[in-house]
Amino acid sequence: MNRIVRPQPPTCLIKKREIIDGYLDRYLPTEDVYPQVLHRAIRYSVMAGGKRLRPILALTAFEACGGGGEIIFKAAVALELIHTYSLIHDDLPCMDDDDLRRGKPTLHKEYGEAVALLAGDALHDLAFNLMAQTGNTEAILELADAIGTKGMLAGQMADMEAEGRSLTLDEVMFIHTHKTGKLIRSSVRIGAVLAGANEEKLTAVTRYAEKIGYAFQIIDDILDIEGDVETLGKPVGSDVKNFKATFPAVIGLEESRRRARELTDEAVEIISSAIKQPDHFVQIARFIECRQN
Ligand code: IPE
Ligand code: IPE
Ligand code: MG
Ligand code: MG
Ligand code: MG
Repeated sequence: MNRIVRPQPPTCLIKKREIIDGYLDRYLPTEDVYPQVLHRAIRYSVMAGGKRLRPILALTAFEACGGGGEIIFKAAVALELIHTYSLIHDDLPCMDDDDLRRGKPTLHKEYGEAVALLAGDALHDLAFNLMAQTGNTEAILELADAIGTKGMLAGQMADMEAEGRSLTLDEVMFIHTHKTGKLIRSSVRIGAVLAGANEEKLTAVTRYAEKIGYAFQIIDDILDIEGDVETLGKPVGSDVKNFKATFPAVIGLEESRRRARELTDEAVEIISSAIKQPDHFVQIARFIECRQN
């Protein structure tokens, strides 16, 4: 019998994911408290799984920069909540209109659009509540800037405006580095800032994150064409359906793969020369390049 062997996440990622899942459960409101429906909906989306890449990156940067203590987990959870809010809203009929997320019906399919909208809003609010508990203004501003109209929202706006148009490579790069890259960049920076990293380390982890964040969205576009629904846990062909501007649409699949590999190699080189023990950063970068979900 033929068995398909799929690349597994590295051990460091699996271990950190388990830890993050524990903190997510701890910091989310419980389902028995009013408004129960909203709390159930929040947990439906957040606890459905997911790679937890953003909190893992924050934790990895925190450790690499010599941080210690519990404070990082508030920020790590906040990052995952922001990410999940962005997915809930991204799937809405007025945006990508998708029916499957993290292997389950999207939140608006299960609970209706109004609850999905409010659950996204609530996750945003909960995230900033947790960030405020870190007491670190720089970290809070980092997140606010990364997801606002200079960051993720600029990317999402450009993504919507680009539907049905053919774009230049620079324009697609803007979309990718903003809608996805900015939150990934801020995850690493928040971990470093909370650890009190010096300017040199902060610059190195930032450059690393910019490369892997960009590569992450290129791979996302490739998986939307070549992925397997069951493994992905979200639809394949959503971009074609919505006439999206994607990397493969502009430069082709082969060249997109080559670009993702090049960005990953550059990220690995940057981090290996800046951090004493770069193993986890390297494993994460390699995983992003070969991931199947
Ligand atoms: C999907 O993000 C949305 C993008 C930014 C491309 P992930 O691929 O990290 O989704 P989960 O969190 O693992 O579900
Ligand atoms: C989503 O990009 C980016 C954000 C949610 C900010 P996509 O629309 O490509 O993500 P998927 O493919 O639906 O996960
Ligand atoms: Mg989208
Ligand atoms: Mg989408
Ligand atoms: Mg996509």
